[in-house]
Amino acid sequence: MKQKVSWGRKLELKFALKRKEDFQEFAGISLRKLPGDCLAIMKLLHRCRPRVVVELGSALGGSSLMIASWAEHLGLEEIVSVDIQDVPRPSHPLIKFIVGDSSSPDIVQKVHDLVAGRPCSLILDSNHLATHVLQELELYHDLVGKGQALIVEDTLVDVLNFKKFRGAGGPLRALKEFLPRHPDFVGAEGIEPYVTTNFFGYLIRK
Ligand SMILES: C[S@@+](CC[C@H](N)C(=O)[O-])C[C@H]1O[C@@H](n2cnc3c(N)ncnc32)[C@H](O)[C@@H]1O
Repeated sequence: MKQKVSWGRKLELKFALKRKEDFQEFAGISLRKLPGDCLAIMKLLHRCRPRVVVELGSALGGSSLMIASWAEHLGLEEIVSVDIQDVPRPSHPLIKFIVGDSSSPDIVQKVHDLVAGRPCSLILDSNHLATHVLQELELYHDLVGKGQALIVEDTLVDVLNFKKFRGAGGPLRALKEFLPRHPDFVGAEGIEPYVTTNFFGYLIRK
């Protein structure tokens, strides 16, 4: 796993964050992603053509709603999105919001039951502490079949050395532990944007 990020890319990202470009909305619902990452996710999902997308970390539901709007192009049947917080979220026929801790056994079981063996891509965007992300990777990676996507968001907290993550590490630290044990997950070619919050986070299962 190549892990060098140029100073230019870090600087561009800092400027983008300063301008709050990661505070977006989709159809009026808050969406916490850079525009380039939204398109990168769309491009990767289109390449993988999942029938289900599992998202851990719904927030207010903007990202699920955005993915649901691509359903016709992706051939997508369902989005299963989990969040620990019970807040009002948009209703959409393709989205199943689940409230609970993504690392709890009953939620893991519920998500697996809903996916029911269908081709599935997985997006990790909940608690970004390395221990939690590693747990999610171990608990959910089996959902991601051959040729499907694993998207691990907000590795910027490691790359930009965010204070809150200095000791514990973030998603990139989790990936560094996970990938040597799971060499069938590899970086997806030509997906990661120059300005991204998800360095090394666009993966595909060989
Ligand atoms: C970065 S936000 C998600 C952003 C959303 N995917 C988007 O793009 O707009 C992280 C979310 O993870 C949720 N979260 C934190 N810890 C969690 C856990 N253990 N299980 C499930 N969700 C969790 C938080 O409540 C928060 O809404």
